[in-house]
Amino acid sequence: MIEIVLGVTGSIGAYKAADLVRRLREQDCAVTCVMTKEAREFIAPLTLEVLSERPVYTDLFSGRDPHVVHTRLADQAKLVLIAPATANLIGKLAHGIADDLLTCLVLATKAPLLLAPAMNVHMYHHPTVQDNIRALRKLGHRFIGPAVGSLACGYEAIGHLAEVDEIVKAALQLAAPGRQSSPPARSSQAKATRRPSRAPKRRR
Ligand SMILES: Cc1cc2nc3c(=O)[nH]c(=O)nc-3n(C[C@H](O)[C@H](O)[C@H](O)COP(=O)(O)O)c2cc1C
Repeated sequence: MIEIVLGVTGSIGAYKAADLVRRLREQDCAVTCVMTKEAREFIAPLTLEVLSERPVYTDLFSGRDPHVVHTRLADQAKLVLIAPATANLIGKLAHGIADDLLTCLVLATKAPLLLAPAMNVHMYHHPTVQDNIRALRKLGHRFIGPAVGSLACGYEAIGHLAEVDEIVKAALQLAAPGRQSSPPARSSQAKATRRPSRAPKRRR
């Protein structure tokens, strides 16, 4: 099982994180989701919690977990994937800002970092954002996308979150070099089978 931390930030593309969790799990990955406060405006933590079959972490000071969550997740990750990654998050990481759970975790991890930016075309082309991306690349962090596509702001332009399958492929290349991603299981003819849940069994 490949341990992946999926960071989700406040972009309209955050809804695709649900599909990303599903696809990563099909590839034998265990996914722990960490959401920024703003990401919760776009997708409910419950969706990611059910799909990942794990708690979703949103607060640095949650009190729900007796461990220091950001360092525990940082240590257990084979890869930290941030998809979608906002201009704000990219800017914070480029400047070493650690003011929430996700940014603290990124500073604390030794795992590779893969960012999938998504934003308005003019935001993406802004010199500050481009400088920040360059700075992160220089540190060895990887990027996938953004792609050209139909943006929520009405433009057909660069800024679209990369395709989920492309993100999964890039994630596996970093987390488990040499392993290929298998195609998504889509047959409507398939018999219904129940996969074993990793959720804890209820006591009787
Ligand atoms: C409807 C809406 C869509 C947004 N989409 C994006 C986006 O795709 N990319 C981005 O960088 N910011 C986007 N923003 C702005 C971010 O939500 C904002 O910068 C926020 O502070 C990001 O916080 P975070 O990086 O901590 O998640 C959007 C804002 C709104 C209201």
